[in-house]
Amino acid sequence: MFLNAQTLLFSENSRLKPSSIETIARPAAILERLQEWRRQGLRAALVPTMGNLHKGHATLVAQARKHAERVVVSIFVNPLQFGPNEDFKTYPRTPAEDRALLEEYQADLLFAPEVTDMYPRGMQHHAIVEVPELSGILCGAVRPGHFVGVATVVAKLFNIVQPDVALFGEKDYQQLAIIKRMAIDLCMPLQVIGVPTVRETDGLAMSSRNRYLNAEQRRLAPHIYEALSTVEKHLVQGRRDFAALEQAADSQLRHSGFVPDYVSIRDADSLQMPGDNSRRLVVLTAARLGRARLIDNVQVNINA
Ligand code: PAJ
Repeated sequence: MFLNAQTLLFSENSRLKPSSIETIARPAAILERLQEWRRQGLRAALVPTMGNLHKGHATLVAQARKHAERVVVSIFVNPLQFGPNEDFKTYPRTPAEDRALLEEYQADLLFAPEVTDMYPRGMQHHAIVEVPELSGILCGAVRPGHFVGVATVVAKLFNIVQPDVALFGEKDYQQLAIIKRMAIDLCMPLQVIGVPTVRETDGLAMSSRNRYLNAEQRRLAPHIYEALSTVEKHLVQGRRDFAALEQAADSQLRHSGFVPDYVSIRDADSLQMPGDNSRRLVVLTAARLGRARLIDNVQVNINA
């Protein structure tokens, strides 16, 4: 069993119940454990995260249990997916609470590497993975390089853990689409499963970045889901003037104090503009509220 320094510190100092979840930091040690499980005929699921875990992450762990006998969760705040002016340094890191939650949800193994474990030769000349059609649009247009960073680290995690299935939230809809496409294009031998968005009771999608909101912003934050739900309602009622619906949602958000990066109605499978044959749509938005950049989406089935 490998314990990193933080695990020991947590056990010795925290008043929370000490977590006994096995924690591994070194990529080589992970594969040993996975091979052992495989020899016993056990399937493994991977839930990649950046930590600061909440009920959304916990739901992924619970779903993972349904697909495999063993559940591995990774916690790694991946510098490669943050832009130079983004929140890599200040991203919330809560290792003790995270381990307590993983214990509660009975994950079997925590993979928590350091940056030097994942990028031992640095990031500058590192091989990268790009999904060209999907990574430059929507959030990718506003956050250049972000999805290359995501696809690259997820590909590494898949190779390190070699899971049978991996689970991702539909909250990050574009990310899920990119990872699914990457797995298909690169013939990765695993199944990528999407899990519906977990929301607070007022509709706000759970997110580690919600903690950047002050009390007033937190009160306004559910308007993002309301704006998307309004578009959904109009689409279900038969409206097809997509640009006008997007514009109205943008205005509704601005009125509530958001600064939207985009509101966009897309084909749910291709993430391109809806065509005449599109029957499954997704309405996506990213909008800034104070320090927080919130993203959300709703999927809509339409008849014609
Ligand atoms: P992170 O933001 O920690 O999210 C980890 C996983 O939890 C992602 O698949 C995300 O979609 C899912 N998730 C977050 N909030 C959710 C919610 N409210 N409901 C359902 N699922 C939710 O996404 C990342 O980390 C990183 O980009 C990562 C994939 C780990 C690569 O670094």
